[in-house]
Amino acid sequence: MEQKPIRRIGVLTSGGDAPGMNDVIRAVVRTAAAHGISVLGIRRGYSGLINGDIIELAARSVDGIGRKGGTMLYTARCKEMLTEEGLQKAADTCKYLGIDGLVCVGGDGTFRGALALSRLGVPCVGVPGTIDNDIGCSEYTIGFDTACNTALDCIDKLRDTMQSHERCSVVEVMGRHAGHLALNVGCACGATAILLPEREIDFEVDVIEKMRTGRIKGRNHHIIIVAEGYGSAQEVADRIHDATGIDTRLTILGHIQRGGSPSSQDRVMGTRMGYAAVMALEAGKTKRVVALQSGEVIDIDIEEALELTKDLNQCLFEAQRTVAI
Ligand code: F6P
Repeated sequence: MEQKPIRRIGVLTSGGDAPGMNDVIRAVVRTAAAHGISVLGIRRGYSGLINGDIIELAARSVDGIGRKGGTMLYTARCKEMLTEEGLQKAADTCKYLGIDGLVCVGGDGTFRGALALSRLGVPCVGVPGTIDNDIGCSEYTIGFDTACNTALDCIDKLRDTMQSHERCSVVEVMGRHAGHLALNVGCACGATAILLPEREIDFEVDVIEKMRTGRIKGRNHHIIIVAEGYGSAQEVADRIHDATGIDTRLTILGHIQRGGSPSSQDRVMGTRMGYAAVMALEAGKTKRVVALQSGEVIDIDIEEALELTKDLNQCLFEAQRTVAI
């Protein structure tokens, strides 16, 4: 059977926002425009599909958005997409508007929505966008580099004051389920120790003893990075203070890590992945996710993608522990 040509596509961002999502939107709109395909922007993620919150996007609508943080389409976590009724409404909107394909930018939850819609006959391609870098099928997720740089900038400032007061700074970074951000940031800022949800540690040996050794070797202050998913950063700070007597301060970086102008890496990756998503739809593909593998942007089946998990970079983990003190 001859493949139906793609005349109109939709694009949405869903879940937690990430710097670089605007670059994906820009790439989707401009690639489509270059190929004579019209684009509808679905606002507020899947809830925009369910409630018909939709705008037309032309090449000029996305001028200048690539350097802006957040997402021009807004984002939401849509519980209604988990119901059969909500899902059907979303699929009906696509049919009604003549959407021949949908680009869905976000994390795991976004891909589950795209999978469900694909099964109802709406061709969908997911694009990994989350600062957590925790999508199993892809070496990189859009927003990670900017979030690392933002956190690093904050921690460099914290180090100045910690050094002056000879204190310990416990810093909680985002990552409810994954420690990629914490590991990278901890390595980049020269943390004495990093506490991650994926690795059990011996607190006495890996934190307290390291701090004591550091002190003997002349280090007068410490940065301890705690991934959000590890547990209470306040408890970590209290334990350190009780065991070492070192004046300890807690800083929770929070949502500041999700904001800011995307780094060049996120702008470039957003462009590559947005372009690849439209090319996949044009090629008649559905139920796919674009992903970075061995440095190349490829696309794989969503179901397969959702099966894959990604562990921390063990080499980085060991290198960081070795050079910490
Ligand atoms: O974007 C992913 C993430 O940043 C997690 O690391 C974090 O736990 C979560 O989002 C918090 O998001 P929100 O407060 O928007 O629900």
